[in-house]
Amino acid sequence: MTERSTFRLDGKPIPFTPGQTIMDAALAAGEYIPHLCHNPDFAPHGSCRVCVVRANGRDVSACTAPAALDMNVESETEDIRALRVAILQMLFVEGNHVCPACEKSGACQLQAVAYHCGMLEPHFKHFFPHRAVDASHRDAILDYNRCILCELCVRASRDHDGKRVFSISGRGIGSRLIVDSQSGQLGDSRFAITDKAAHVCPVGAILPRLGGFRVPIGERLYDREPISRVGDVAAHQEG
Ligand code: SF4
Ligand code: FES
Repeated sequence: MTERSTFRLDGKPIPFTPGQTIMDAALAAGEYIPHLCHNPDFAPHGSCRVCVVRANGRDVSACTAPAALDMNVESETEDIRALRVAILQMLFVEGNHVCPACEKSGACQLQAVAYHCGMLEPHFKHFFPHRAVDASHRDAILDYNRCILCELCVRASRDHDGKRVFSISGRGIGSRLIVDSQSGQLGDSRFAITDKAAHVCPVGAILPRLGGFRVPIGERLYDREPISRVGDVAAHQEG
């Protein structure tokens, strides 16, 4: 039997194989580290920073940092939780996230991770950006108000669907999601509801038209179980 290397996550030994990230190894061991732009089906992206952990005293993204022998990783400490809450608060105020009126409420990972991290209020001033809702597609609505620029739809469309329907334009605060069609509208693009990209959005920015409110709010995935217990993949399947 080969002996596996381990690191410690909040004091618990976590086995890993060479090449695994802290996130991969933690999730494989059944330990939850909050995340939004990470999805095991795609290459890590490291953009949301919600998965911040302290590894040997240095703050890193768990989804991109490789696991290392005897590394000491802190995740659920007061400091790291406070850092995560601030990152989540920024994500909330940068967009227009009106949870009580959102069809994704209860199956939204941003909302579920905020609950997990104990975020109780937005703290920062809301930007209230003017963003459009693209209802041009027969089968899906693209609501830019809720986009957190995680690039999961970009990666899914490019790497899985082979279409490159979505991309990010601009930099920093000027970054925005764009659609590859002459009009810039989803309905004029090659997007199809059967695409992987139609089912990876962790928030309610890409919403299939059919099936809305099929599961009533209050009975959805994260209404029933915290995200730390059920993870994110089931949310994609449900949404
Ligand atoms: Fe991420 Fe959804 Fe925005 Fe695409 S539409 S970048 S999946 S939040
Ligand atoms: Fe690691 Fe987004 S989940 S940076």
